[in-house]
Amino acid sequence: MAFSAAPKSLSAILWAAFALAAAPASVRGLDYIQDILPIFKANCWNCHSNEKEAKGGLALDDFEALAQGQIGPVGLVRPGEPDRSELLARLKLDDKEDDFMPRRGKALRNSEISKIEQWIADGAVLDAENLTEAERNRAEEAMLAAARAGGEVYFQWTNPEGKAIEAKFAGLDGDSVKLLTRERRGYVVPLEKLDEKSAALARKLGEAP
Ligand code: HEC
Repeated sequence: MAFSAAPKSLSAILWAAFALAAAPASVRGLDYIQDILPIFKANCWNCHSNEKEAKGGLALDDFEALAQGQIGPVGLVRPGEPDRSELLARLKLDDKEDDFMPRRGKALRNSEISKIEQWIADGAVLDAENLTEAERNRAEEAMLAAARAGGEVYFQWTNPEGKAIEAKFAGLDGDSVKLLTRERRGYVVPLEKLDEKSAALARKLGEAP
């Protein structure tokens, strides 16, 4: 991928080109209430809800207990670490194994398991509309890690005039950031052509994790 060199009057060209295609919503990861709870309601409810019964001390509708540790660095769900999350591990077991979940049920679909995996990788937040500070940090860390690893993470970049584009971070090059749009167009944008927040984001992404 060749990056076009930024012309001196880059802001005019670049931002005008993207003003039309400006991305509306900010980038949002998966969250528990909207994306994951429906899967659990359909498969785990009889045994893991305060509504019915909470076997093994796990009520998937007890958001407080989830927030207070079942989702956490030593919990059943470890934010940012799907491979170390027991809840996910149990879903992936062979259904003949004792620890397999849903017990006596049918394995979740691969698409559902991947969704849960992605949710954990995204920082395992409960409600994206209502993030606690800890969740906000987790989600941000997860996003930064995914972006540094070259994942499909599109950030909103804003210039000092307030115009925004959505693009992937593709590296720092001295005092410029390389951005890659969904259309696979690459740009080298001097940090001084970005607003403070976007410039700070670029620097953060450029740091070693
Ligand atoms: C028919 C009842 C039943 C269903 C349905 C069921 N479970 Fe369980 N689950 C249990 C029992 C009983 C235990 C406690 C014994 C054990 O840990 O294996 C348990 C334990 C667990 C644990 C470990 C809890 C801990 O603190 O160690 C997790 C995680 C879990 N289940 C997740 C799920 C998920 C997710 C689903 C739905 C996809 C599900 N289970 C469906 C009966 C069920």
